[in-house]
Amino acid sequence: MLLENRIALITGSGSGMGRASALKMAAEGATVVVADWNREGADETVDLVKKNGIGDAVAYQIDVSDVSLVEGMFDFVAQKYGRLNVLFNHVGTPGPAGLDVTEEEFLRTVDLNMKGAFYCTRFGEPLLRNAAGQASLIFTASISGMVGSLFSPLYSMVKGGIVGFGKALSLSLAPDVRVNVICPGAVETPMLDGFFGRDPNVDAAANVRAFVDNAVPLRRLCQPEEVADVAVFLASDRASFVTGLIMPVDGGYTAR
Ligand SMILES: NC(=O)c1ccc[n+]([C@@H]2O[C@H](COP(=O)([O-])OP(=O)(O)OC[C@H]3O[C@@H](n4cnc5c(N)ncnc54)[C@H](O)[C@@H]3O)[C@@H](O)[C@H]2O)c1
Repeated sequence: MLLENRIALITGSGSGMGRASALKMAAEGATVVVADWNREGADETVDLVKKNGIGDAVAYQIDVSDVSLVEGMFDFVAQKYGRLNVLFNHVGTPGPAGLDVTEEEFLRTVDLNMKGAFYCTRFGEPLLRNAAGQASLIFTASISGMVGSLFSPLYSMVKGGIVGFGKALSLSLAPDVRVNVICPGAVETPMLDGFFGRDPNVDAAANVRAFVDNAVPLRRLCQPEEVADVAVFLASDRASFVTGLIMPVDGGYTAR
């Protein structure tokens, strides 16, 4: 197994790609801290891991944009495990479209996409360093952090920030921690509606079809498990010389 005896913490793992990553990492032997503000979703992920019978999982309810709660979560991990092999900062939100954005919406988008990832890293770093060279820090950005978003310049702004943050950390945390950034394209999760269903006057399903047909060379949506496979690879020793990678998982969208 690729992640035997490894401790992983995945934010936003009560649903979608985060849950798929928790299941795949546990199936490779990891113990996963399922960090999510949705207690039910987190518990469901833990139940699914336990049903598989490989690895282990524990639910931790948290809003990762609350700095004091983030510090408390890493105190919990320190006391329970004393180290962290994998920190996967996955939480994010599409945020509002266009430029007609209130200050409150702006700050909320920054908090959910950037503040959470920053402070999880800030408080997770000592635990990653305790992992004796088997430490992997992974971020979820987006293709919108690599190229301009069709829907939201603000989303490109915050996800571009995650790309820059990941690159910088791959320098400053080396050689102890490998740092990589996954940039998914359109993935079939509950969040997809947030991208394609923004305009109530436009049929979201038609929007998805047009996007896939016109912009995705593989001509389909990505499944959460296909991102999770990449996360497992980056978390594992199979990626032992991989750091500073900005990796699209987008069916070829950014190849144009
Ligand atoms: N779905 C896509 O097409 C797509 C594409 C590119 C990037 N992304 C990025 O992927 C990430 C999530 O995507 P998903 O599709 O797996 O979403 P999802 O909606 O299936 O799951 C997101 C999870 O995060 C949790 N969450 C949200 N805010 C939180 C907070 N403040 N604290 C703790 N938990 C919180 C939710 O409860 C949910 O369980 C985001 O960073 C998003 O920007 C998604």
